[in-house]
Amino acid sequence: MSESESAAAAAAASSGSRNGAAVPALKVTGVTKSYRHVQALRGVDLEVRPAEVHALLGDNGAGKSTLMKILAGAVSHDHGTIEVNGVEQNFAKPADAQAAGIETVYQDLALAPSLSPGENLFLGREIMRKGLLGKLGFVDRKAMSEAAVQQLQQLGARTPTSHVEVEALSGGQRQAVAVARASLWGTALIMLDEPTAALGVAQTTSVLDLIRRLRDERGLSVLLVSHNLPDVFAVADRATVLRLGENVLTTDIADVTSTDLISAMTGGRSLGDTAEASASAHADAPTTPKDQS
Ligand SMILES: Nc1ncnc2c1ncn2[C@@H]1O[C@H](COP(=O)(O)OP(=O)(O)OP(=O)(O)O)[C@@H](O)[C@H]1O
Ligand SMILES: [Mg+2]
Repeated sequence: MSESESAAAAAAASSGSRNGAAVPALKVTGVTKSYRHVQALRGVDLEVRPAEVHALLGDNGAGKSTLMKILAGAVSHDHGTIEVNGVEQNFAKPADAQAAGIETVYQDLALAPSLSPGENLFLGREIMRKGLLGKLGFVDRKAMSEAAVQQLQQLGARTPTSHVEVEALSGGQRQAVAVARASLWGTALIMLDEPTAALGVAQTTSVLDLIRRLRDERGLSVLLVSHNLPDVFAVADRATVLRLGENVLTTDIADVTSTDLISAMTGGRSLGDTAEASASAHADAPTTPKDQS
């Protein structure tokens, strides 16, 4: 190795920047998973860089949720390796993935509706106050509520934190609570499954803004599962497309159009020009080119 090469290698090893040479926040290599005779993942490779938003795309049944569940420690994989910040991991349960710094926001959010946003942020990880004789005594609601207010404010979320139950919040506000909870505990990677699928325009904008803040202000990496290509173009730095359990494309978002992504997702079946065309396309749909006007 020449002097300049070794200097570059040293710089890459010590840098957390988005230059592609840094140690990835997440590196998945050759991961396979079968459910009996269904091969859900057939050797998937995926690299998420430090402080990047990486979109995970694919048609229904492509394997996105399966991969997410494996990375969350909820499902075990058959073969392949998973590295988080350069350290190989074997997740036997969700707590193992959390200990490695991975937090997951599932589509159903898994919030407790009858608790406040603050209580939800600390659900299962309550702050305890010392009781008599220094023994762990009480759940410290005040400390949790203060930390929740601070967390949601830092993320710019317009969400009430206490004196209100999650049940009473809008979809976007709930999503903000779930993202805030993930960002409170995640140190390496936040995984979001279709975070804007049920949201209106204004709420979508604010959730996309939250995602940018995770990256830009917290330096976290985000793996974003989404069917919404405008969202992907709005926030993602790179994207990986899965098709039938294999990764078929990894690209900088700036280098592709939605047509490229749709074509990768469908294997070129759809000649449609828009995400809507993909969403409504059937395998046997006529493939006349769309009017370009
Ligand atoms: N628990 C399971 N048992 C059997 N097969 C499963 C199970 N979970 C997923 N599969 C199969 O694995 C494949 C990948 O499914 P997965 O849910 O990962 O796809 P996806 O990309 O998340 O799709 P969608 O966009 O519809 O959510 C599918 O063929 C699915 O039927
Ligand atoms: Mg899915």
